[in-house]
Amino acid sequence: MFDPTDLLAQDRDHLLHPLQHPQTHAAPLVIKSGTGIYLQTVDGRTIMDGLSALWNVLVGYGRVELAAAAQKQMTELAYCSNYAGLANLPAIELAERLAGYAYPDLNYTYFASGGAEANESAFKTARYYWKRLGQPGKVKIIARQDAYHGVTLAAMSATGIAPYWSMFEPRVPGFLHIVAPYPYRFAGNVQPGETVGQAAARALEEAIVQEGPETVAAFIAEPVQGAGGVIVPPDDYFPRIRQICDQYQVLLIADEVITGFGRTGELFGLNRYGVQPDILSFAKGITSGYLPLGGIQLSDAIKEAILNAPPAQTWMHAYTYSGHATCCAVALANLEIIERENLVDHAGQMGARLLAGLHALADDFDCIGNVRGLGLMTAVEFVADRDTKAPATIAGPILKACLERGLLTRIKGESLLLAPPLIITAAEVDKMVEIVREAVASVAH
Ligand SMILES: Cc1ncc(COP(=O)(O)O)c(C=O)c1O
Repeated sequence: MFDPTDLLAQDRDHLLHPLQHPQTHAAPLVIKSGTGIYLQTVDGRTIMDGLSALWNVLVGYGRVELAAAAQKQMTELAYCSNYAGLANLPAIELAERLAGYAYPDLNYTYFASGGAEANESAFKTARYYWKRLGQPGKVKIIARQDAYHGVTLAAMSATGIAPYWSMFEPRVPGFLHIVAPYPYRFAGNVQPGETVGQAAARALEEAIVQEGPETVAAFIAEPVQGAGGVIVPPDDYFPRIRQICDQYQVLLIADEVITGFGRTGELFGLNRYGVQPDILSFAKGITSGYLPLGGIQLSDAIKEAILNAPPAQTWMHAYTYSGHATCCAVALANLEIIERENLVDHAGQMGARLLAGLHALADDFDCIGNVRGLGLMTAVEFVADRDTKAPATIAGPILKACLERGLLTRIKGESLLLAPPLIITAAEVDKMVEIVREAVASVAH
């Protein structure tokens, strides 16, 4: 018989987890295996994964095909340096596959190992670009409140969720935050005749003007803010953002670490708005989490700036694991699954079903103030009072009640986040909504 006691003691004594605090790690689930959208714990429970691990396991667990791709590549060449002067086959093939894949103007890829590394690369490349163009003062990065861009020092400084900063201050200078395009709780001011989307975009213009366009390198935005609570912008927001960036010569960095590769029901998040970024950050879904991989894609103009540089202005950015052969081979196999199984369209269909189910829940429970989502990226926000929108204090107990009923996910504030693997079936979507219904009923009565 398996005795979990030793394992938990060893975990407690020796393993520091992300966001570690004894209170949130008092009784960790120890996961042993996974199949489809389900996880199995060492003590024999089967749990539906309502957040695709950390939004990333797009094709679900237990894909032998991805293991086989890794084994084949590891046997041939697991890894070698990808620094200038060297290359490997899977990295070349993946970069070629990704050329124009997300957006027609993005044809040049640099690989990292995850989202924060991708964003660090994006910030540095934005600064590099302006220096190459003779504008070395353009260094600031504008981000948004409730943004999540990772937690390495510069990424953390772009992240707009204060608890990630407080014990690690000071932040990197030159990062500032504007209001989020959060229609349910818009913190900006809407002028007469203006939409929320226009007002939220105006905040960018005002920030650029106030800082001085000659000091601003880039604006970074998630197409749908994920960890900040699944904040879906109004449809007129990003087209206006693009215009403002063009007008003031500010690069637009799309952080598609969550929204890339189908999550929103489009291949990439900004596709919906007909907007192209200058720099794209990706990670998570490119390998469905089977191995760590991230990166950036660069516009043709930025590519030219790198390729035409004199040696003294070389793009001196590097990671040991950039273009990791096995990670790239697994990514190629993962993209094949996403395409073969038509998971992008499927995410759109299942997302619509999930959203409809959650809206029906809102009809039955006054404690639900807002339901929102795009594709398989959804949230239910709880309030104490629908009219005043005063936040409730029930998301924690509801999260616990979900887990007791076999559904694992996360909350942000009073919002319950749901973003299951893209392979979820209609019956599983209905089951997930049913569990949430029971969980809400058990807490809110
Ligand atoms: C939008 C976004 N950007 C960046 C990151 C950071 O990625 P990583 O944890 O791989 O550094 C995340 C992680 O959740 C994310 O959601």
